[in-house]
Amino acid sequence: MSQIAVYPGSFDPITNGHVDIVRRSLHVVEKVIVAVAFNPNKDSAWFTPEERVEMIRDAFKAEGPRVIADAFSGLLVDYVVAKKAGVIIRGLRAVADFEYEFQMTMMNRHLQPQVETIFMMTSENHFYTSSRLVKEVVGLGGNVPGLVPDIVLPRLLARAKRVAS
Ligand code: PNS
Repeated sequence: MSQIAVYPGSFDPITNGHVDIVRRSLHVVEKVIVAVAFNPNKDSAWFTPEERVEMIRDAFKAEGPRVIADAFSGLLVDYVVAKKAGVIIRGLRAVADFEYEFQMTMMNRHLQPQVETIFMMTSENHFYTSSRLVKEVVGLGGNVPGLVPDIVLPRLLARAKRVAS
């Protein structure tokens, strides 16, 4: 049994909802690889994969070697196998997440039956937090303190100005 889990996502940028899921996961597994998925040919993200990895690394400084930040392109299950991880972690918020997550889990299981997906429920204060909404709010001049890690907030506000100009 693997004690290493991969927590994949776009993380554009990492939010406190993601941070909550990683901290919960550390109660269950020894090590979590927070893996930024990117498509080298098509990526409309605000932040480059390197910037996203850097923010994740900064957000989990206190956790030390139990949380690793990385980026990958290609199939998630291939990355999971290459990292000798046995588990994929995904966070669940509202019911709306379910169908998308169900499809992905089934496809990943079809591709790699020995890799299990575990779902963690976010705490209720992050039920509505998403990278997409955070970017939308900041892009329209709003602020999101408490929704993203402190180290992410200034970078997000700075990027919003650049995106708008
Ligand atoms: O944070 P997101 O955008 O909901 O994460 C989606 C992600 C990155 C987990 C998913 O798009 C993914 O696994 N991408 C890697 C490519 C892949 O394996 N695609 C098939 C998934 S069934």
